[in-house]
Amino acid sequence: MSFALTPERQREAEEIFSRYPNKLAACIPLLHLCQEQHGWVSSEVIDFVADRCEVTTAHVQGVVTFYSLFNQQPVGRHQIWVCRTLSCALGGAGEILRHCEKRLGIRAGETTPDGRVTLRTAECLAACGQGPVMQVDKTYHEHLTIEQVDRILDGLLAGDEK
Ligand code: FES
Repeated sequence: MSFALTPERQREAEEIFSRYPNKLAACIPLLHLCQEQHGWVSSEVIDFVADRCEVTTAHVQGVVTFYSLFNQQPVGRHQIWVCRTLSCALGGAGEILRHCEKRLGIRAGETTPDGRVTLRTAECLAACGQGPVMQVDKTYHEHLTIEQVDRILDGLLAGDEK
């Protein structure tokens, strides 16, 4: 089945194209817009973006596989990235990650069986002075402790039940 944007997102796509000198340059923001709607970048989304940006599907595939923020398979409604790079690792990121795995009942790279949360590790979230750091959806959480992680996960899971 082919992919199509909702009318509202189609208007956003037109606004995106208007910001760039050519269609190729809009490839990344258009991919983000499609992923926001679809949850991940399926082959249908790749076809759609390639067609709109007038590039090959191989070009779009190359972009999607280069940037880790593009989901190449279905993910949970919420995504958590725990930074595991040096500054955060020295600050206890390993313990933070193990705690998230225990609380969610999954390993890094997996999604909870109810489809609510995907847990991942990240390579440097560019907040090295504030580690350990994790990103929950679009929000950064810094100077993490186990107690803070519990509060964050409690809030995330409670909010998702509404
Ligand atoms: S090392 Fe974790 S944000 Fe850079």
